[in-house]
Amino acid sequence: MLLPAFASTFAALSALASLSTASPLAARNNDNATTVEPSANANVTAPPLPELKWLYTAMVDCPADLLPNVTSPAGRRKGIPIVGGNVTMADGSFWTIRDLGADWGTVDPRTGIFTADTRYNAYNDEGDDLYMQTMGPGQAGGGLHLRATLETGSSKYYWLNHVIAFGTLQSLPFDDRNLSTKVIHMYNFADDRNASTIHLLD
Ligand SMILES: *[C@@H]1O[C@H](CO)[C@@H](O)[C@H](O)[C@H]1NC(C)=O
Ligand SMILES: *[C@@H]1O[C@H](CO)[C@@H](O)[C@H](O)[C@H]1NC(C)=O
Ligand SMILES: *[C@@H]1O[C@H](CO)[C@@H](O)[C@H](O)[C@H]1NC(C)=O
Ligand SMILES: *[C@@H]1O[C@H](CO)[C@@H](O)[C@H](O)[C@H]1NC(C)=O
Ligand SMILES: *[C@@H]1O[C@H](CO)[C@@H](O)[C@H](O)[C@H]1NC(C)=O
Ligand SMILES: *[C@@H]1O[C@H](CO)[C@@H](O)[C@H](O)[C@H]1NC(C)=O
Repeated sequence: MLLPAFASTFAALSALASLSTASPLAARNNDNATTVEPSANANVTAPPLPELKWLYTAMVDCPADLLPNVTSPAGRRKGIPIVGGNVTMADGSFWTIRDLGADWGTVDPRTGIFTADTRYNAYNDEGDDLYMQTMGPGQAGGGLHLRATLETGSSKYYWLNHVIAFGTLQSLPFDDRNLSTKVIHMYNFADDRNASTIHLLD
């Protein structure tokens, strides 16, 4: 299944890719830079789009930013605690987010665009731990686009260490707990290694 929300992103990336391959390129190896003649790449066209699949949906609970006035060389630094919530994976497994993480994202003063930069943890009933790092910019229509790196020592979920995960985030309004829940839908390539294609050697 190709997810419509990402079709335009991939179309844009593919367009960029074909633009850059259509121009004179400096192709670099480790030692030398060589110029490739433009004609050699003149007829590159967009490749077929990759197949994606749903990876998980996370509900991430965040109180207000604790660092409203911090300006750093990286921009306006935020400190938004991540205090709870949950992750439901495509396999039906349920993970509880620990009161441990935060978003140390920044706002670029040249564009006003916020880019998230989070680290947080979740655990399941089997005692597995899942460490998540997400990054990604705010979008013109609201919400954010994210890329995620996942880490776990769980044998069952070891394949998560190898997925290329990306998705969308929408913020819900602050609720009666004074928390804004971030609703995150994550996807990955349908042919990423998975539980049936990763075999631990020990
Ligand atoms: C780099 O260029 C030099 C000079 O043309 C050549 O002798 C050398 O083999 C090149 N190295 C590589 C890795 O292509
Ligand atoms: C690109 O396509 C055009 C039209 O088919 C053809 O005339 C030209 O030789 C092609 N160029 C290259 C570098 O393949
Ligand atoms: C942040 O800066 C604004 C404007 O200078 C000020 O009104 C506000 O009190 C500051 N907030 C904190 C938490 O320092
Ligand atoms: C998951 O977290 C969200 C946000 O806190 C909450 O609304 C929802 O009830 C939780 N789901 C379960 C099954 O606990
Ligand atoms: C909710 O959070 C805001 C911002 O941190 C704070 O000013 C306010 O007192 C909080 N309200 C409650 C009911 O905790
Ligand atoms: C695991 O990956 C293999 C190879 O890409 C694929 O054939 C299989 O359907 C995948 N299984 C699941 C559960 O996604």
